[in-house]
Amino acid sequence: IPVQPFDYVVFGATGDLTKRKLVPALYHRFKDGQFDEQSRIIGASRSKLSEADFQTSVRDAINQFVEKDYQDEATIERFVKICTYVPVDASKPNESGDLGKALRNDPKIVRAFYLAVAPDLFEPIAEYLAAKKLYRRDARVVIEKPLGHDLESSKAINDGVAKIFKEDQVYRIDHYLGKETVQNLLALRFANTLFEPVWNSAHIDHVQLTVAESVGAGTRGYYDESGALRDMIQNHMLQLLCLVAMEPPASDEANALRDEKLKVLRALRPIVNGEVGKNTVRGQYRGVSSEATSVAGYQDELPEEKKGSRTETFVALKANIDNWRWAGVPFYLRTGKRMAERVSEICIQFKPIPHSIFDHAEGAPKPNKLIMRLQPNEGVKLLMMIKDPGPGGMRLREVPLNLSFAETFAERTPEAYERLLMDVIRGSQTLFMRRDELEAAWMWVDPIREAWDRSSEPPQTYTAGTWGPSGAVALIERDGRSWYEDPLT
Ligand code: BG6
Repeated sequence: IPVQPFDYVVFGATGDLTKRKLVPALYHRFKDGQFDEQSRIIGASRSKLSEADFQTSVRDAINQFVEKDYQDEATIERFVKICTYVPVDASKPNESGDLGKALRNDPKIVRAFYLAVAPDLFEPIAEYLAAKKLYRRDARVVIEKPLGHDLESSKAINDGVAKIFKEDQVYRIDHYLGKETVQNLLALRFANTLFEPVWNSAHIDHVQLTVAESVGAGTRGYYDESGALRDMIQNHMLQLLCLVAMEPPASDEANALRDEKLKVLRALRPIVNGEVGKNTVRGQYRGVSSEATSVAGYQDELPEEKKGSRTETFVALKANIDNWRWAGVPFYLRTGKRMAERVSEICIQFKPIPHSIFDHAEGAPKPNKLIMRLQPNEGVKLLMMIKDPGPGGMRLREVPLNLSFAETFAERTPEAYERLLMDVIRGSQTLFMRRDELEAAWMWVDPIREAWDRSSEPPQTYTAGTWGPSGAVALIERDGRSWYEDPLT
């Protein structure tokens, strides 16, 4: 079903995010018939491109970043025709083109501004839009991280946008919330009766969240300023934690859901001062060089002036949620670059059975585990104990009840941005972060960062292509637990 017709203005139209993510996502939704035929995409940036230049860059982005099977010449031609371009420099309004002329003054046409630019430009652009009378009370503005590097800078960014736009007009993207499998977490918890009764400290021993990447930090200047705590934990991983831990919201309405996530963030036990050393581990990868492989270490990738950087490329930490449901149930989080494989998953480890009648059997019963695989090979797996078939008495074996999305569904799994970009037009903020959530997350993360900055200890090193520093293993093993490893791999 097509969404309402729209004028989607993309600031930063010549940038990387636009080419890699926004154009491919919009193209897919266009191809799937979700655009009303009156809809327009208006690129805007400081470059003095013509409409034809911009259309060529859109075509190139599709050729480069859309899977070949979905590139279809006739559709690409139609898509490119709805794209236009206006050179805009918010700091030099007199040298800018006339964005107002490209926008339609019809209340039925949704007006959205995607600010795919550095955050220091959010406020000038918002003010530019207001000065040019392009602001409408029903317009939407989309912004994305880095939304600050700590609580204070995040407040400044939000204040800048809030000078013009009201909170119900602001769509803060955390692209993890757009991932199909992340939304599936909501379906799993709230569209089944099976799990909710056992989703608490009476039945769950602990929870693990892993977002491992095999790529390195590369030469992105931003990364060295940020590090894994800000880049992954403050946003994506805390959002995942909230979806696992929150109380059932009364509806899927944006504020109902976001209120519940906020309560979780506020119930996170602060990790401060001496607790930081006990409950967090940071790491940095070092290179490997052998006959078989050669991978550069983080330090090798840095420019000369940054050498010696203590930026962490890996974090493991133990979080506690101080509320009734989760009392005594630790959440172990880990994320890093250059890890052994690219895998994101959530593992819910249930408690052991209260009493075993199988003491004489081969193989002790292992506690059940529910694993939600977010990427790749998306799916849900329940590890349970069964009797090994065949003669030989009672032998117990752990086997997975396995739901693979690829095997079950023929459809393509849409990219996170596809859903999110269209939700902006639908006016649904459910999958976007509210300001207070963002700030609660910074409030929790900042003391960890500050303690690291004060510490004389550098990050622990780990070899590229491994599961992180030994401290991460020690962190969980100290509690008599271990990181989940797929028994079948
Ligand atoms: C981004 C981070 O937000 O998420 C990157 O800035 C990271 O450093 C990326 O690589 C991971 O996203 P995905 O969708 O590939 O898991």
